[in-house]
This record gives sequence, structure tokens and C-alpha cells, in this order.
Amino acid sequence: MEHPLLPGGTIGILGGGQLGRMSAIAARRMGYKVRTFDPASGACAAGIADEHVTAEWSDTAALTRFAQGCGRITLEFENIPPATVEFVAKSVPSHPSANVLAICQNRRREKEFLRTAGIPCANFAVVSSLVELQAAVQTIGFPCVLKTADFGYDGKGQVKLPTAEADLAAAWHKIGGAVGVLEAWVPFQMEISVLVARTVDGRTAVHDPAENIHRNHILHLSISPARISEATATEARALALSIAEKISLVGLLAVEMFVKEGRIVVNELAPRPHNSGHQTFDANETSQFEQHIRAVCGLPLGGTKPLAPSAMVNLLGDLWRNGQEPDWTKVLADPAAKLHLYDKGKAAPGRKMGHITVTAATVEEAIRRAEALHAAL
Ligand SMILES: Nc1ncnc2c1ncn2[C@@H]1O[C@H](COP(=O)(O)OP(=O)(O)O)[C@@H](O)[C@H]1O
Ligand SMILES: [Mg+2]
Repeated sequence: MEHPLLPGGTIGILGGGQLGRMSAIAARRMGYKVRTFDPASGACAAGIADEHVTAEWSDTAALTRFAQGCGRITLEFENIPPATVEFVAKSVPSHPSANVLAICQNRRREKEFLRTAGIPCANFAVVSSLVELQAAVQTIGFPCVLKTADFGYDGKGQVKLPTAEADLAAAWHKIGGAVGVLEAWVPFQMEISVLVARTVDGRTAVHDPAENIHRNHILHLSISPARISEATATEARALALSIAEKISLVGLLAVEMFVKEGRIVVNELAPRPHNSGHQTFDANETSQFEQHIRAVCGLPLGGTKPLAPSAMVNLLGDLWRNGQEPDWTKVLADPAAKLHLYDKGKAAPGRKMGHITVTAATVEEAIRRAEALHAAL
């Protein structure tokens, strides 16, 4: 049996982006030591970690040095080769497992897992050639969306096919001609996401669904709690828990869902903290980052209750006009607004540089103020 890793121990985090940075903040607040690992130089989690290793995912000598002395290893990035997790797991308990990672990082495996597990998801077909795509649109119907199986994020690697007039050859070319998943378009009323945590001994905790609004395929606003009925929220939490059990999750999993006529269709799984859970840092009993740490370390899980209605707005690099840092004074002047910046250095359009969380008496008020602060930048 795996023993809990208590504060004072060392947690290794594979990946050094903002999710790792905020997980590291939560871990260090609890008295853990943190090591991060990332192939890119300038990884923003490195500034929070006690130690940081810059090396390739395949560099077994560097991974061995990284793992040495860690009591637990986790990850914050989905596109790590499962073999990397398998390698470190030989010497240190590592969560989530290489298998959970392999399922969640590949749309084909993810969709096949959901279908086999009996979880409602969009109808889909796996396609590995233009001919297969031409056949698949007949069974899936229009509108539909073609997605690459590997390495999609923020709407990248996707082509919507609105009608039978769509140019299938161009779409096939656009996703790069590797294996793809053709999905029926879901005419949803709302997108929500649910965070579920599970420990190695099977204890679970789930946060309330957050409501997500995208702009240009990138999360813009996340609202908590989502404006859905209690019955829909209950169904969403139950589905997330069921997925966590069926995938044998250890750690934290974000489940992206569509709400269509009050029913849930599961869209995507991410086995790590998620952008739509950032408001939990300021607006819930336990943040997703602390829950992530508690789950992988085998601690008791924290309470998930919202402390107040909240809205989180992303700060993308587009706000840095001509490389100029936005004027934060208006945000700082709002006593109910929390400014989070990730210290990522160079801003680029679409790059997630930070976020603002606003808590208020109602979600409508939180949304209004978050949008106003964002507009003022
Ligand atoms: N089958 C679908 N039906 C309707 N909208 C979709 C569908 N698939 C994706 N979308 C829209 O595109 C967004 C991004 O797609 P998603 O599969 O979550 O990929 P990623 O988040 O990795 O870019 C979703 O949040 C949703 O707004
Ligand atoms: Mg998504």
C-alpha cells in the first residue's frame, strides 16, 4: 500500500507551465518541497519551485536526477509522452498513471474510453484517410467536426464541417492527414466543466460545475456555480465521479461537458488542473491546485464548497499591446478582484498570461465586474 506523502516531502511536477506554477504555490503553502521538469527554458513554474530541471521528456538521466528524492510525481501538462511517466513511476509513485494520461491526451482513445464506459458523448468515427472521412460523414451527418487525435488544444487541430458542401479534402489536409476523429456537432446551450479528485485508496471529491464561455476557441470567462438546474448539476457531478472510477484516476481530472436540453454530453477529459477551475483558488474552500496535491499525495481531500459566486476572466497576451504591460491599477483597485499573473515573460496573441477572479453576491454581478475589468485593460 502506498503511504501518504506528508508536508515536508518533495513533489515532482512534470511540466512547468501556469498549472504547475499554481499547483506548486498550493504545495509550498502546505510545506512541501517542489521540483519541476520542463523541456522549455523559462518555464514559469520554475520561479516557485525549489528546484527546476530543464531537459527533454526522453532524457532518462535527467528524469532519474529529477525523481531522486521525490516522494510523489505528478504532471500539469497533457502532452507528455506516457513513457516518461512510466519511467519515473518505476522509482517514485506517480499520479495520474501513464495509462490515464495516454487515454486523455489522444481523442481517439478518449472517445473510445467514453463510449466503452457508457458515458454519453457525441457520436463519432475514427478516420485515418480521406476515403474513410468521406464514408464517415455519411454516418455521422452534418454539421460535424474533424479533430486530430493527437496534440489538439484551444481549438487547434479542428475543422468544422457545416454542410454536405464542405470541402473534405481541404479539411483532411488541414488536420495534417494523421489519425482523426470525426464528431457529430452538439448544438449545446452551455459548456460546463467539473473537477473530480480521487486518491489511490478510492476516496473522491467533486467541485460544482463551472460554466465556460469561449472566445476564438479559447476560454474567456468561467462562471461558478454554473447557471444550470440542480438536477443537471447533480448529473454532471455523478458523471465526473463515474469517469474517475472507471478510468481508475488518481489525482485531479477536469471533465468538459456540453449541456443540451438539460442533459449532459461529455466533451473532453484533462487529467490535471484546468483553466476553468482557476476561480477555485479564491472562491472555494479548497482550490483545484490544493486538491490536486492532496489527491496525488493521498491526503484527506479538501471541502469543495463555493465561498461566494465568482467569475474568472482570462488575460491573454493580446492585452500586451506592442509588448507593453497592461495598466493593472483598475484591477488592483477593485477590492473583490484577485489578479493572478503567471510570470511567463513574452506575451503573444492567445497566450495565457494570467487571470482575474471576481467574487460577488451573485454570479451576474461577478460576471459584470469581471468583464468590466477586462474591458478596462
Ligand atoms: N462536437 C462538438 N459540438 C459542438 N461544439 C464543439 C464540438 N467539439 C468542440 N466544440 C467546440 O470547440 C471547443 C474546443 O473543442 P475541444 O474538443 O474541447 O478541444 P480543445 O479544448 O482541445 O481545443 C469546445 O469547447 C466547443 O466550444
Ligand atoms: Mg476543450
